[in-house]
Amino acid sequence: MIQLIWEDGSRNLFPFIWLRDNDPQGFHPQTLERQFDIASVDVLDSIDSAEIQGDRLVLHWMHENHSASYALQWLRDNQPGMSLNDPADFPVRLWRNELQQQGVASSSAANILIDDVALLSWMRDTQSYGLSIVDNIADASHAGMDIAKRVGFLRETNFGVEFEVKSKPNPNNLAYTSSELPLHTDLTNQEVPPGYQFLHCLANEAEGGQSVFCDGFAVAADLRESNPEAFEILATVSIPFRFQDEEYDIRSRKTVINVDENGVVYEICFNTHIAGIFDLAPEIMETYYLAYQAYKRLTQQDKYQIKIKLNAGEMAVFDNRRVLHGRTAFDPNTGYRHLQGCYVDRGEFESRLRMLSSA
Ligand code: OGA
Ligand code: ZN
Repeated sequence: MIQLIWEDGSRNLFPFIWLRDNDPQGFHPQTLERQFDIASVDVLDSIDSAEIQGDRLVLHWMHENHSASYALQWLRDNQPGMSLNDPADFPVRLWRNELQQQGVASSSAANILIDDVALLSWMRDTQSYGLSIVDNIADASHAGMDIAKRVGFLRETNFGVEFEVKSKPNPNNLAYTSSELPLHTDLTNQEVPPGYQFLHCLANEAEGGQSVFCDGFAVAADLRESNPEAFEILATVSIPFRFQDEEYDIRSRKTVINVDENGVVYEICFNTHIAGIFDLAPEIMETYYLAYQAYKRLTQQDKYQIKIKLNAGEMAVFDNRRVLHGRTAFDPNTGYRHLQGCYVDRGEFESRLRMLSSA
């Protein structure tokens, strides 16, 4: 490795193979993609000379007879062991029922549609809380989708690019009835469940039909404290999910709690109505169900729920891989209820955040 000591006394180590792999000459000047072939060199090779020339570090590899030159500032900004600054990597703000009093962040549709600064500020709130409201949306079909398109490509599913949530004859989904919908994340039966969900309310005149939200990350954090064994089972044992109708049979296995390599929860997949038939070994079934039930019982506590009756012209926007949503039952004889929904995946959302942040 080579050690650089900066003017402020801080030191960084740069392994030779990392420097070789990141030689600026190995990248296409236009696309910025790497063209260097890692298979072509000896990973354990070392350099035979290093010198500082102005604001650059110049190295030479003897066996290859190869020279490379690096901007010192680039080395400082990309030092190994430090994660790169990412404008889409926002601190997650967990919430519980106090958000009811505090109020969910809300933004006006007109601003989001025309102003990138307003768009960025709304997207940041939506990402850190996993939930926001957009209001003053035009009373028109697809008006919610137009806002979602400001964020990025829509994610098409078997329910279409846009889905209509209303009580329908021959429903293929509980959402299309007037029943209560317990807290859930959508489409856990998909290989990758959709990221952000947009639910635009066109009419909500029936009695009932309140939206319910719960921060699935907060529930997971509290379960981790109070019942670490349950947390562990939900994070390591996967269960099947399945959607089927006359045209589709879409299945996937998921763990309810998904944890990254640093132990950070990055996704909740919780949907008891499309959970398949559990095929776990009989010996662990009760233990699994106890953990699964413990998670659900927490989501049912007032402590974790906020309730909002969406009005026409309002749209709830939430991270479907974090925030659980549901609704109370409604009586279709007392008035009309109609929502339109669509999704934008996390990747598109984050890309937009980065582009807006650097504008
Ligand atoms: C859904 C859903 C909520 C509602 O369509 O997936 O959860 O308020 N709808 O009807
Ligand atoms: Zn849903």
